[in-house]
Amino acid sequence: MPSKEEVAGRKNFHVDTPMDTGGFYVRGSAHLDWGMKNRLSRIFNPDSGRTVMLAFDHGYLMGPTTGLERLDLNIRPLLPHVDCLMCTRGGLRTCIPPQTNKPVCLRVTAGATVLKDDMSDECVGVDIEDAARLNASAMAVQCYVGGACERQTLENLSRVINAGNRLGIATLGVTAVGKEMARDARYLGMASRVLAELGAHFVKTYFCEEGFEEVVAGCPVPIVIAGGKKIPEADALKMAWRAIDQGARGVDMGRNIFAARNPVAMAQAVRSIVHGAASPDEAHEMYQDTKSDNAKP
Ligand code: R5P
Repeated sequence: MPSKEEVAGRKNFHVDTPMDTGGFYVRGSAHLDWGMKNRLSRIFNPDSGRTVMLAFDHGYLMGPTTGLERLDLNIRPLLPHVDCLMCTRGGLRTCIPPQTNKPVCLRVTAGATVLKDDMSDECVGVDIEDAARLNASAMAVQCYVGGACERQTLENLSRVINAGNRLGIATLGVTAVGKEMARDARYLGMASRVLAELGAHFVKTYFCEEGFEEVVAGCPVPIVIAGGKKIPEADALKMAWRAIDQGARGVDMGRNIFAARNPVAMAQAVRSIVHGAASPDEAHEMYQDTKSDNAKP
């Protein structure tokens, strides 16, 4: 029998019906090979099914952004508090100790900087052999759905997925949003779905105020949210909580962690939401109460 939404001609995402994951806890990954599942299990905690990814790949297009002036000093204190490192091969090789036992989601696209108006003109800059040499668990590809170089970035994604599938390395599709594009559920839901259908094993997108749960429901692989521009800590924690509450399987947050007044406390507070079911207020209280050595005055 058609639902009320169908009768009214609206799309029906069945947001109250969880997707059947067919025997493996990472959404959409039940039919993957052992190695791929093992790598995804390093990223998504098998107990909570969620992840706190720390994004610090910004230098590849922004140079030394605020909070990432010194990767060796800025990132190392955060390592114990996050589940996965999203970074460039240059940042990883030069500044992250190899004995860090955290899975890596390697930024593999290249070719654009913030000095250009259109940042969608990217290529794949990292060979699959180098990703394997760095023991990457996943590779991240920026995709500009609707952008000037849409086809090129979707081709980048497809090439990386093909190469990763040969070796069992997962691919994160990133829905990049150009300056002129709306960040609403219609766009984000469409872009996320496109990347999943092309074979991305998980998708990074932005949270949106209205309809985010439909973005999640319409995407057959896990969604992690980007933090976006730095906002007050309390607001960033509220956004993380709302995204998780509406079905996101984690965060891939950068500036709202490393550019916080107290980055270690912020990583811990985000973690308490993602894995510990803390409310935004509880997490913010924890943030304010936590002292740490790398807090800014
Ligand atoms: C942007 O340069 C990178 O792709 C980041 O990984 C991404 O934007 C997430 O970082 P943030 O939370 O700072 O938006």
